[in-house]
Amino acid sequence: MGKSSKDKRDLYYRKAKEQGYRARSAFKLLQLNDEFHFLDDPSLKRVVDLCAAPGSWSQVLSRKLFQDERATADRKIVAVDLQTMSPIDHVTTLQADITHPRTLARILELFGDQKADFVCSDGAPDVTGLHDLDEYVQQQLIMSALQLAACILKPGGTFVAKIFRGRDIDMLYSQMGYLFDRVTCAKPRSSRGTSLEAFIVCQQYNPPSGWQPRLDLDQSVQEFFQGCFRGSDSPDVGPWHETPRDIAPFMACGSLDSFDSDATYHGQDLQGDSDVPRRSLDPVQQPTNPPYKQALELKRKGKLTRAV
Ligand SMILES: C[S@@+](CC[C@H](N)C(=O)[O-])C[C@H]1O[C@@H](n2cnc3c(N)ncnc32)[C@H](O)[C@@H]1O
Repeated sequence: MGKSSKDKRDLYYRKAKEQGYRARSAFKLLQLNDEFHFLDDPSLKRVVDLCAAPGSWSQVLSRKLFQDERATADRKIVAVDLQTMSPIDHVTTLQADITHPRTLARILELFGDQKADFVCSDGAPDVTGLHDLDEYVQQQLIMSALQLAACILKPGGTFVAKIFRGRDIDMLYSQMGYLFDRVTCAKPRSSRGTSLEAFIVCQQYNPPSGWQPRLDLDQSVQEFFQGCFRGSDSPDVGPWHETPRDIAPFMACGSLDSFDSDATYHGQDLQGDSDVPRRSLDPVQQPTNPPYKQALELKRKGKLTRAV
């Protein structure tokens, strides 16, 4: 890191290490839950974490669902990512692409063909630096997560997804509004104020009666939502792509006392921390497939040669 660049490892990065979370994103889900309480529902049984690696959201889910007296044996968490994930207690990990219909079938198989109560997605594709392309790919990933959620959620279920409040975000709010009774755009304090990132919290899954969502590689998003009308019999509204766009209510999550992810804190600013001697912490998790793995292997066998 150059001297002039801002250290991106903020207070939440440090807190994540202290509390054994693999990423600071854990606090985003925790702060969303503090406001909406979707993980406090004792009837929660089947949960899906899409785009889950390295796994801090899955850790939150595992701790919330399994580390209290409400835990029942029939609870199940499935975490899906393109990348490999180190194991997490009570979480079944799937290395798969959420945009592929086969992934839905694999999750349903793990749930014994039963529907899920809660689906979340913190997905982010690799950025190319071409702004329009990045925004398009991000929108497609959110749409894939929404389609998968529509196929797997039980009525009354909840869907939470990361979004970027770009130009056409109101279109997405409308699409979600056809499927859920309550749609809120939420910004946790641990999500940097300087970033367009926010989270859409969709509660009370309530698809139009008669509409059967079906994932198929050859069908477009329009085809997927075909026949999806708001208030199924209402004559004054058209199909989802023809009706006016919605504005979702905005909710800031996390109290004003919680840490500001854009601020810089010094030791003496941290309540109760001033007397604690500084010490470095071990990594929460070892890298699953580091680029230097092959070099270490060659070194162990005495085959690592220096290039001249
Ligand atoms: C910001 S990270 C998720 C962080 C995670 N929620 C956590 O708390 O540790 C975004 C993830 O999305 C995954 N991803 C992107 N496209 C995907 C796809 N098509 N299918 C599955 N995962 C995908 C990436 O591999 C990456 O691990």
